[in-house]
Amino acid sequence: MSAGRIAIQDVSIRLGTDGGQPGVEVLHRVSAEFAPGEFICLLGPSGCGKSTLLGALAGHLRPSSGSLLLDGVPVDGPDPERGLVFQHHTLFPWKTVLDNVGYGLKMKGVSRAQRNLEASALIELVGLAGFEHRYPRELSGGMQQRVEIARVLINHPRVLLMDEPFGALDALTRVKMQELLLDVWGRIRTTVVFITHDIDEALFLADRLLVMGPRPGRIVEEIVPGFARPRHADIVTNPHFVALKRRCLALLHDDAHPPLERLTPLGRDPVSEAATQWRFAV
Ligand SMILES: Nc1ncnc2c1ncn2[C@@H]1O[C@H](COP(=O)(O)OP(=O)(O)OP(=O)(O)O)[C@@H](O)[C@H]1O
Ligand SMILES: [Mg+2]
Repeated sequence: MSAGRIAIQDVSIRLGTDGGQPGVEVLHRVSAEFAPGEFICLLGPSGCGKSTLLGALAGHLRPSSGSLLLDGVPVDGPDPERGLVFQHHTLFPWKTVLDNVGYGLKMKGVSRAQRNLEASALIELVGLAGFEHRYPRELSGGMQQRVEIARVLINHPRVLLMDEPFGALDALTRVKMQELLLDVWGRIRTTVVFITHDIDEALFLADRLLVMGPRPGRIVEEIVPGFARPRHADIVTNPHFVALKRRCLALLHDDAHPPLERLTPLGRDPVSEAATQWRFAV
């Protein structure tokens, strides 16, 4: 059986429709298919509807028209098989790492011994062996997000939905978390839909990158970075990576959307390129 195939079919979403008003069309006729185990990144400027689309995939809001299917079945409300990770963790402050990670199994009535076994394996998977009996407040931001990922993975989700999960972390921790996530995903191969504003992050992580545009939110281009895996942080200096990054910048900031072939090859060094990223930060 296939597991984790997502079909987004002609989905439009209007928000603010209370009181019989027509509301604002936040997403306009979005269609996409994600294969089981694929790593998809959604990249787009603030307000273009990324979180709205993820919220619909999570089952927190319904499309105004069109349909969302997971393995052929319409998404109908939240379910742990579609795990959500946000920028800020949702751990219980009064529970240890072990009990936070095991919580999803507790809800299913699994015995303490079994859930400790499964939780310990996941804690090790995210590189936190030895921290099982710590409380969230005793961990760094990156460690808390690792626990959050383990907490979601214990439900064996068919889909992992991530909304800027590393957005609150410093640059170095963020890169380490990206590598960790790719390592974890390489072992469990769940479908990942990952939202980011950060072009480097999207190009580093994705099998396929969907660039979105605003007002109303829609997919303006699909990019397949095509870098061999496993990937390492130094691919940001690869000329192909830099060319794709320029393309993403053009898509995010130009209305004209020049085709890739017309982009001039980059002659700058990685340091000035990093400066460019800051200047265009969305
Ligand atoms: N309840 C609502 N009523 C009307 N408009 C809304 C409502 N909620 C969100 N919006 C609008 O929908 C648009 C998309 O919001 P969304 O949060 O999906 O954007 P986003 O791409 O995730 O942005 P960001 O990158 O800042 O998180 C925004 O323009 C926002 O103002
Ligand atoms: Mg958002």
